Amino acid sequence: MEVKGKHYRTIWVDNDSPHIVKIIDQTLLPFEFSIKQISTCAEMVLAIKDMHVRGAGLIGAAGAYGMYLAAGEATQDAEFFMDHIRGSAKRLKQSRPTAINLEWAVNRVLRVIERAEGFSGKVKAAFQEAQKIADEDADSGRKIGVSGLPLIENASRQKKGQTVNILTHCNAGWLALVDYGTALSPVYAAHKKGVNVHVWVDETRPRNQGAFLTAWELSQAGVPHTIITDNEGGLLMQKNSVDMVIVGSDRTTHTGDVANKIGTYLKALAAADNNIPFYVAVYSSSFDWHISDGLKDIPIEQRCDEEVRFITGLDESGKKTRVAIVPAESPVSNYSFDVTPAKFVTALITDRGICNADKESIASLFPDKINKQ
Ligand code: MRU
Repeated sequence: MEVKGKHYRTIWVDNDSPHIVKIIDQTLLPFEFSIKQISTCAEMVLAIKDMHVRGAGLIGAAGAYGMYLAAGEATQDAEFFMDHIRGSAKRLKQSRPTAINLEWAVNRVLRVIERAEGFSGKVKAAFQEAQKIADEDADSGRKIGVSGLPLIENASRQKKGQTVNILTHCNAGWLALVDYGTALSPVYAAHKKGVNVHVWVDETRPRNQGAFLTAWELSQAGVPHTIITDNEGGLLMQKNSVDMVIVGSDRTTHTGDVANKIGTYLKALAAADNNIPFYVAVYSSSFDWHISDGLKDIPIEQRCDEEVRFITGLDESGKKTRVAIVPAESPVSNYSFDVTPAKFVTALITDRGICNADKESIASLFPDKINKQ
């Protein structure tokens, strides 16, 4: 995607500095656009944990590049090499537990390293696989845009060209993947085609991915949008101001239950009560092909209480400031994701087309994945 006229991915390696992985530092947006350099696997683990990179697809790619860095820094002793690689894989996978892309991508590079011959062969193979994962991620985002565009075009036709109002939660745009995004990819495709769209952006407390990241992304692309508090969506739906909801997913069971940013479930309930389509944009590496009951089996990340206790923004003089917003003595809870049961999902928008959020329909689009179980 473009930032001030220049194309960026969210993570990349430059030819002239192949031992450094570069990322857009998402902890600084929207106030500062800055590139951060990562040169060790330990730094990558921290970048994922502290959300310098975030979003299911991007943390998958970051995990893959983390494995490449681990291979480069491992000692050239066969036994210690694989110890370091396996330990690094474990630390990367543990850095954030809910999005399955991370585990999937790290395991994929791990397998390639195990199979490759010689130290330099292993490093080379890790690099090639990480690049492949990043390319596939971006391409899947692009394809989700192609799959989801007709839904927005149909809504536009039904409204005789009037603006289609789409509500989204968290950030499931290009910042959440390597490029294009999931939920926002069809929105970008529609906007590019001249369809009138407007996005209601949930601010998404406590990390404000909506207010900070989605709003910034949409501004860069010139897509009309409005930031709303997390609690406003229900009223907007009752007032007929929302035509559809599109969200992303961090882990979708092969039966259609969807884990996504905390608060997604409440939007699904409100959408169901108001007969508004609730779409989830998801691609093959965000599916969990091994579990059937999302509520029971998807691990839900709990993050530190500081995220709820403090908020960071610019003060009146434009200086970045962090302030407390709750009584210091009050306990807080901070679950980062929730699970929306499949029955509330109108359809899944995938890189292979649209399907219902149920086992049969998902299997019909992804027979190759199901058969591997
Ligand atoms: O905690 P985050 O910011 O990593 O959470 C991201 C989300 O919940 C996105 O909606 C999700 O990754 C889907 S888009 C790939």
